[in-house]
Amino acid sequence: MNMDRIIIKGGKKLTGEITISGAKNSVLPILFATLLTDEPTTITNVPSLIDVEIAISLLNFIGKKTIKYGNIVKTYISNKYKYTLPYELVQKMRASILAVGPLLARIRKIKISFPGGCAIGARPIDMHLKAFTSLGVKILNIDRNFIKIYAEKELLGTNINLRFPSVGTTENILLASVLAKGNTTINNAACEPEIVDLITVLNKMGARIIGAGTKKIHIVGVSKLRGFCHKIIPDRVEAATYILAAAITKGEIVIKETIPKHLRVINNKLRKSGLHIKEYENTIHVKWIKNLIPQNITTNVYPGFPTDIQAQWMVLMCLLNGNTRIEEKIFENRFLHVSALRRFGANILTKGNTVYIKGVKKFLGTSVSVSDLRAGAALILAGLAAEGETIISKIEHIYRGYDTIEKKLEKLNATIKKIR
Ligand code: EPZ
Repeated sequence: MNMDRIIIKGGKKLTGEITISGAKNSVLPILFATLLTDEPTTITNVPSLIDVEIAISLLNFIGKKTIKYGNIVKTYISNKYKYTLPYELVQKMRASILAVGPLLARIRKIKISFPGGCAIGARPIDMHLKAFTSLGVKILNIDRNFIKIYAEKELLGTNINLRFPSVGTTENILLASVLAKGNTTINNAACEPEIVDLITVLNKMGARIIGAGTKKIHIVGVSKLRGFCHKIIPDRVEAATYILAAAITKGEIVIKETIPKHLRVINNKLRKSGLHIKEYENTIHVKWIKNLIPQNITTNVYPGFPTDIQAQWMVLMCLLNGNTRIEEKIFENRFLHVSALRRFGANILTKGNTVYIKGVKKFLGTSVSVSDLRAGAALILAGLAAEGETIISKIEHIYRGYDTIEKKLEKLNATIKKIR
């Protein structure tokens, strides 16, 4: 087990400016989209994350030569694709399921172990499998671990109605149907910016997709896709995490290389709370000017309040004067950070998928361990606000989704160190 820890000496106001990295949830599906072409591709503004490393090793395992040079990833001519994905790689990252769509499109068969759940929920793939079946694909339960997904002939475009606007399912349908015979329509599709980024790439490759960012996406199947060059959009979850860090430490920061419209819901909530937020073309200026007023939230699909920012929001609400209600409607078990926040002194009551927070005057530094990616970010925010020292273990979860977070925070005047 990785014994690295983060040590924070809390109580300092964040000041200065930082640059946001490329979006984890955009680069992952786009990396798997490279399987759809044999031509070289170049992806820039790629964040340095554990999940990106896992995706790159999976691509190389499948037979797509993929190399990362700093924040650029290049893929080269492919060898014959392997179609059995190893459990060790698939179980490390849920997003490995996004290899299925392109492999069905190219070689029409894949043997994969169930990606398995993770801390925040069971993370089933029933919607993915149902969507593949509608495209003419067969699912064979080989044994309790492996499923074989295959099509005897080319995939056939069809009309797919999603019971829930699942991000991953929308992405897998896009990746599977671009090379299908005929047209596919996705109704009740996910509208996240990362879906728009993936569709931008697929259209650069020669796909014919309309409706990006809307609930109805139409794909005209084509016979071949070419290489591409693409700069990944900025990570809106990373940006929101730093905005909240500034609010929690009563500081003032400038966030560069971001897309303010992707953060509209959070920024409007924070303005209502009393935080000063100024948006420019790709910069956001955040300044704490007075005690903030608690704001209830209910997580929702885009453009609603993102579930990936719920944990970080909770930390801020714990330190405001007054009561807050937070309802988590996307994942069934995304309150794992609550017990750790109570160790700082938070006053939180959990009832099913809702928590009731009574603000406290301050947090006291403590030692905590990370359960999942966004909970880890929340514990860092809590440590930045707490009086005294905080030690955070199991930090590998955090580096799955935050590029050099301790260095970026140090640059913002935080006293934070990663130690072995
Ligand atoms: C993506 O996960 C993101 N991950 C998640 O970010 C994000 O929280 C989530 O979308 C929601 O926005 C990546 O993009 C790599 P879903 P995904 O399919 O695609 C249920 C982070 O912290 N569901 O929209 O897995 C599912 O269990 C991560 O960066 C089914 O029931 O999310 C969940 O309750 C965490 N059956 C809900 O739908 C299915 O077949 C939303 O899942 C698929 C999903």
